[in-house]
Amino acid sequence: MIATQVDLESEIARLKKETDTVILAHYYQEDDIQDIADFIGDSLDLARQAQAVTHKQILFAGVHFMAETAKILNPSKKVLIPDLKAGCSLAESCPADKFMAFKSKYPDHVVITYINCSAETKALSDIIVTSSNAVDIVNSIPPDRGIIFAPDRYLGAWVMKQTGRDMVLWDGTCIVHETFSLKHLIRLKVRNPDARVIAHPECPEATLNEAHFVGSTRKLLNDVIQNPAKTFIVVTEPGIIHQMKKNAPDKTFIPALGEDESCSCNTCPYMKLNTMEKIYLALRTGRPEVTVAEPIRIAAEKALLEMLRRS
Ligand code: 13P
Ligand code: SF4
Repeated sequence: MIATQVDLESEIARLKKETDTVILAHYYQEDDIQDIADFIGDSLDLARQAQAVTHKQILFAGVHFMAETAKILNPSKKVLIPDLKAGCSLAESCPADKFMAFKSKYPDHVVITYINCSAETKALSDIIVTSSNAVDIVNSIPPDRGIIFAPDRYLGAWVMKQTGRDMVLWDGTCIVHETFSLKHLIRLKVRNPDARVIAHPECPEATLNEAHFVGSTRKLLNDVIQNPAKTFIVVTEPGIIHQMKKNAPDKTFIPALGEDESCSCNTCPYMKLNTMEKIYLALRTGRPEVTVAEPIRIAAEKALLEMLRRS
């Protein structure tokens, strides 16, 4: 007897149509997932896209806070995520109860929170930001207002440097971006003197000081397309190199590495929990579903809409 083989790509396409589903994916997903997505983007693009979809169901190939954002903006749609355990170290660093106690110490401050956080933490915030719009949104706050910025202290420090604003920072970090080795990066720069270094603002300041350009994943991709440099040292999760190669096939991309060059600590372990098999199963079974309690959703949506209104 010949064993049956499932052609995942065509089955996913069939199930997508059958269930009226749109697949949104982040740049840090595996290449095959990026290739079957209807839309790929950074956190801001994906939030905007989630607001615009007309399908009955959204399958979010990314991490939990991204799928939750899609649900907050689309309460009547069903939102699926391939693996419910796809979290984020920044979101985990900032539980709502501890954040509530923290913000009560600064009652007059505007609470600006990076989108990499839970719905409960968003619900305690005045405005959500992404790495793409954080500088502009902080600049839009009247200069005499104090600001709390959470949960990424490196992104917060970078925004403080760009805007000249002092902010009270929550002490969270991304386990991927804080791990890039400065020693290895400098070695790559010395060996590739013509290379342009591009970095995500979740990196520590010493790493960002070595970069020619700093921006969100979408901005890094645009830089690769627009800048005349031929070689780029990429200091962010290497999943995005798939789109860089597709959009600039004549250019060379060198991924930055962690201290132990043989480990895969430059890849996001949460993003990489998603697989084509899990996407197929989620579409087939309608699970796992992302849900948000209505009072939390309403408060979180207010802070998200404030971001979308300002960017
Ligand atoms: P972007 O919004 O730049 O895509 O960043 C998301 C993220 O989680 C980076 O680690
Ligand atoms: Fe979170 Fe870092 Fe993974 Fe982005 S790369 S999802 S910030 S753990």
